[in-house]
Amino acid sequence: MKIAVTGASGFVGGAVCRALAERGIAVHGYGRRSTVAVGHVGGAVYRSWDVTRGPLGDAPQVDAVVHCAGSVTDWGPVEGFFRTNLDGTRNVLASFPSARFVHVSTASVYDPYRPTVAARESEAPVGRYVNGYGASKAAAERAVLAAMRERSAVILRPHAVYGPGDTTLLPRVLSAVRGPILPAVGDGCQRISLTSIDNLVRACLLAACGPVGEGVFNVADAAPVLLDDALREILAERGVRARPVYLPLAVVHPLAAVVEGLFLAARRSRPPRLTRYALGHLAVERTLDISAARRDLGYEPAPTCFTGAAEW
Ligand SMILES: NC(=O)c1ccc[n+]([C@@H]2O[C@H](COP(=O)([O-])OP(=O)(O)OC[C@H]3O[C@@H](n4cnc5c(N)ncnc54)[C@H](OP(=O)(O)O)[C@@H]3O)[C@@H](O)[C@H]2O)c1
Repeated sequence: MKIAVTGASGFVGGAVCRALAERGIAVHGYGRRSTVAVGHVGGAVYRSWDVTRGPLGDAPQVDAVVHCAGSVTDWGPVEGFFRTNLDGTRNVLASFPSARFVHVSTASVYDPYRPTVAARESEAPVGRYVNGYGASKAAAERAVLAAMRERSAVILRPHAVYGPGDTTLLPRVLSAVRGPILPAVGDGCQRISLTSIDNLVRACLLAACGPVGEGVFNVADAAPVLLDDALREILAERGVRARPVYLPLAVVHPLAAVVEGLFLAARRSRPPRLTRYALGHLAVERTLDISAARRDLGYEPAPTCFTGAAEW
């Protein structure tokens, strides 16, 4: 079996490459940067390919492609997101026309303006998003759904992926710590579905190599957790002597709008620590129903666990 992995230089794609290589599967990894450490991709063949530039001219024959490449931030011009996340996805689809297409999407395709409560797959995509990330990932899903009429394709929707090599969640939580305080929003009792990198890799492998080659699936840890429990566990595991302090969304949301406005006016390329998108993900319930993945893919996730986070 041969599998191509895009986003191989990133957090998720690298983990997928390593897991496939460990199982003796031939892997062709692609990332935008010119090189990666051999260990990051588990010794897989690695090539640089900017997916916005068009389909790959000399794509190898593979059985499946796991598409992890994406612009993964909540900040930046909308066109940039669409170029990478939509046009890039179309170019990956075109490069491997006969391969099973495993599309790593996101739970950000659910309606950001209301809580996500045990969301079923049919509840997204929707018609409104807070930023270019959600909108472009939804557009990419629509492109993959259209392709599904003619080819085998699986869409996976993880939420808040964490684990060794995490480029998004853990760094953001830790960078928010101010002395003995981790400012947070809501009351801490909001339930949230998190996804360990091991669970996401498990789902990617089932989608790429398993008997079911079509469908849309939420992917998360075995059960949701309370935000407060998760934050305290992360801090404890990292040995950070701080505690979450909760502020009401009604106060923080307008503040985030002002901060974003200032960053936009100053043409800052880096996101502010506080964005309305990030608040939307933390302040209210964000839980996913993962029964379809369990039933159809045979997905058996482990519970949320931050053990070992000190080394991440
Ligand atoms: N992390 C999360 O919490 C999370 C949650 C839900 C869904 N997801 C989805 O998971 C996927 C992977 O995310 P991640 O966390 O692994 O992000 P990441 O660590 O930032 O990795 C992104 C990958 O995409 C590649 N990439 C970006 N622009 C590209 C371009 N124009 N051409 C080719 N490659 C490009 C990057 O390559 P270079 O680094 O070489 O530039 C990198 O390999 C994304 O599709 C994201 O939407 C992530």
